[in-house]
Amino acid sequence: MAIEEKLNEVAEVEPQKELLGQAKAVLAMNDQGSHTIPAEGLYPHQWLWDSCFIAIGLRHVDVERAKQELLSLLRGQWSNGMLPHMIFASGDAHRRDRNLWRSWVNPYAPSDVTTSGITQPPMLAEAVVRVGEKLSQPERRTWYHTVYPALLAHHQWLYKERDPHEEGLALQIHPYEVGLDNTPPWLAQLHEHSRPWWIAALEKTHVDKFVNLFRRDTKHVPPGQRMKNTDALLYYDVIRRLRRKRYNIDSILTRSLFAIEDLTFNSVLVRANHCLQHIASNIRQDLPEELEQRMHKTERALEQLWDGYSGQYYSRNFVTHKLIKEPTIATLLPLYAGSVSSERAQQLVTLLTNKHLFGANYPVPSVPLNSSWFEPLGYWQGPSWVNTNWLIIDGLRRYKFHKEAEWLQQRTLELVETSGMNEYFSPVDGKPAGAANFSWTAALTIDLLQE
Ligand code: GLC
Repeated sequence: MAIEEKLNEVAEVEPQKELLGQAKAVLAMNDQGSHTIPAEGLYPHQWLWDSCFIAIGLRHVDVERAKQELLSLLRGQWSNGMLPHMIFASGDAHRRDRNLWRSWVNPYAPSDVTTSGITQPPMLAEAVVRVGEKLSQPERRTWYHTVYPALLAHHQWLYKERDPHEEGLALQIHPYEVGLDNTPPWLAQLHEHSRPWWIAALEKTHVDKFVNLFRRDTKHVPPGQRMKNTDALLYYDVIRRLRRKRYNIDSILTRSLFAIEDLTFNSVLVRANHCLQHIASNIRQDLPEELEQRMHKTERALEQLWDGYSGQYYSRNFVTHKLIKEPTIATLLPLYAGSVSSERAQQLVTLLTNKHLFGANYPVPSVPLNSSWFEPLGYWQGPSWVNTNWLIIDGLRRYKFHKEAEWLQQRTLELVETSGMNEYFSPVDGKPAGAANFSWTAALTIDLLQE
């Protein structure tokens, strides 16, 4: 090999090494021993899908620690099978957060840790399989055996509690369950169906600006990069109402119900079901037949979220059964689900690469560039996030869109290389925003570097 070629190769490898080093340092910084927090200050607790993404990256660095990351999620599992979206840190400093949720009002909540009373996208099965890929076959079987009962209980809970009419789609009761906190469809629906009078009154009298005094997030991140005060109050109000019903799904479903069959959540569920099937067959376990049938139904039901007129997928209001036609990045996630036809996948790729929609300079924006909600630094109303990029890249590969997958992977790596390991980024100019040293950005960077 000519010396110039060799030098070129080294020049390519060096920045990657540096990026890998930075990513590992972020994970080390946020490591709490047996679990990892998303970012210091802003996010001091453990989150469900964060830890799954973290384990997917950690497996390349330390597979035992990656296993531990996932096992630590199980300490929060409720005895009815629910995996809560947050497990709170102990200590006086975090009393306020624990008191907000008060998981102890529900008899199924664990007694030794305090958790939230809702869940998050079911990424665990995927993370278990990804970690399993790094193990020898006997080790993998032991690993799968260890996690299988909890995972099975979680999926059974999802269908029993969250698909009460056996329609195939799981419903969600708070936008935090979806992981895309201030995503337009949820905000639009909450404003329309569930906004208490006192929030409108606070807004009218401009008293809402004092809410900042009580908000922790806006002490760490500029308010313009987070939810509006009135929306934060609205979200708080939903938590209060769920808590009053002791997170009991029967009373939630029978009185003043507000629920959405969310596209992001259900796309992840389809994939999670496939992973659960893979795990079960690897350890020669038969999944309960009823569960198998309901899992198949979810794949078919996802197609009910397609709107032929606009050529996009949407979330659906559980009560009215109407599609919520606010386009967001969720429209692309059936690619990750992997169950839609190749014709649909092609239609989604066309949206992804359209320069007026998702084909931004620094893709993939959390809402299309032409959305009236679009703000480049507006949290889940514009910025590009590494976790959703990862899900889309994975989906593109599954449908054999290798060129597009490679493009998005390179763009994502370039973005973190130039802008840092932030929580999210402007899709217009790549400017970093949200928390710095964000764990899933680091972990998924490690994973993308291994491809
Ligand atoms: C924000 C994100 C959510 C994530 C959490 C912790 O609330 O919207 O998806 O799990 O932060 O990082």
